[in-house]
Amino acid sequence: MKRKLVSMTLAVMMGLSLTACGSGGDDKAATDKDNAATQDNQDDTADDASSDDAADDGAADDGSSAEVANKDKPLVWFNRQPSNSSTGELDMAALSFNDNTYYVGFDANQGAELQGTMVKDYIEANIDKIDRNGDGVIGYVLAIGDIGHNDSIARTRGIRKALGTGVEKDGDINSDPIGTNTDGSASAVKDGEIEVGGKKYVVRELASQEMKNSAGATWDAATAGNAIGTWSSSFGEEIDIIASNNDGMGMSMFNAWSKDNEVPTFGYDANSDAVAAIAEGYGGTISQHADVQAYLTLRVLRNALDGVDIDTGIGTADEAGNVLSDDVFVYNEEQRSYYALNVAVTSDNYSDFTDSTKIYEPVSKQLDTAKSPSKKVWLNIYNASDNFLSSTYQPLLQNYDDILNLEVDYIGGDGQTESNITNRLGNPGQYDAFAINMVKTDNAASYTALLNQ
Ligand code: BGC
Repeated sequence: MKRKLVSMTLAVMMGLSLTACGSGGDDKAATDKDNAATQDNQDDTADDASSDDAADDGAADDGSSAEVANKDKPLVWFNRQPSNSSTGELDMAALSFNDNTYYVGFDANQGAELQGTMVKDYIEANIDKIDRNGDGVIGYVLAIGDIGHNDSIARTRGIRKALGTGVEKDGDINSDPIGTNTDGSASAVKDGEIEVGGKKYVVRELASQEMKNSAGATWDAATAGNAIGTWSSSFGEEIDIIASNNDGMGMSMFNAWSKDNEVPTFGYDANSDAVAAIAEGYGGTISQHADVQAYLTLRVLRNALDGVDIDTGIGTADEAGNVLSDDVFVYNEEQRSYYALNVAVTSDNYSDFTDSTKIYEPVSKQLDTAKSPSKKVWLNIYNASDNFLSSTYQPLLQNYDDILNLEVDYIGGDGQTESNITNRLGNPGQYDAFAINMVKTDNAASYTALLNQ
């Protein structure tokens, strides 16, 4: 009894100081009474009388009153970083919404640079056959995902920088789409030059377009498939390379045209279908280490819910032995952001990346339910048909949620309107933590307003 009292006190303290817990996730008996029960089992020794105390995570039985307000529950933004979609400036109010708020994504600039270099290296290594019509101009087309998305902007810049086609605007490389530019007259890009074996070639961005469908969904694969149809029918023989801000669009263009015409196509994400296509002539892709990101997304919530140091199972091994090495992620404390690091996937190494939904072995060990009891998480994917998020990220999350003892409700949006998602966050009190993937990076307040209510 005394022990129980101690544990309750501890639990209440945890609840107050760490804003860690909400309604006990796995309890069917779910009273909606929140309880700071996470620590309840920490001192479950054999002599701790009540076995039901040991058996469940204490959701209903300790009666503690440390109800956690929605605004104090752990919150992680992922894949779309709260930021101004025009200037890229981070939305620090959203990123520091409460003490347990983080962002999980990946290093967009490092990845963009890798993608650009991968394409440039490919051109240099294949210079004798790359210029299909022999006109001395290496022409490429570019599929842009979302002109207001920081990942998309970085990738467009990365390609233009590596190929020498970028033009400066406001101190950085212009990332605007150009429409068509077969004559090299566009002002948002310029002709680049590449010299291989003493011979100079012009590099030209022949066309680029934001792949947004009529309903407003961005990164739209079908739109990219149509675009390559239009481009190839008017200047197909000039296209020597296809670059895409992601694999969803890249594969759509590959299947529609470039595979048959043997035009190397480069994407981003290392989705399984794109990696497999490397054997059939897809040029390459970039792994944004989604296996590490998906883990981090749920792990920061887990740590906050358990009231342990945020680095547990991340930079510092947890009791099960889960730990990430510093070559796969960085944490930027000021930005409250975890960034996974990217890896280029080409014909040299693609066999190591064939299953994009495989969890990362160093963080694959099951947590103990006594220390990390089941909790309920609300998580949304901005667009249920986004190739990367639905075919790679979500399956990974689903693999990790069991390991981390998190019961996650996955909500899929339509990719167009925030309200389609926020409408389904009608009862945040039912959840212990939240993981949010916004439609637009500017819209964090639509979510925090609901949690503030
Ligand atoms: C991925 C894209 C995806 C987008 C969604 C990016 O990081 O590379 O494939 O469409 O996230 O926000």
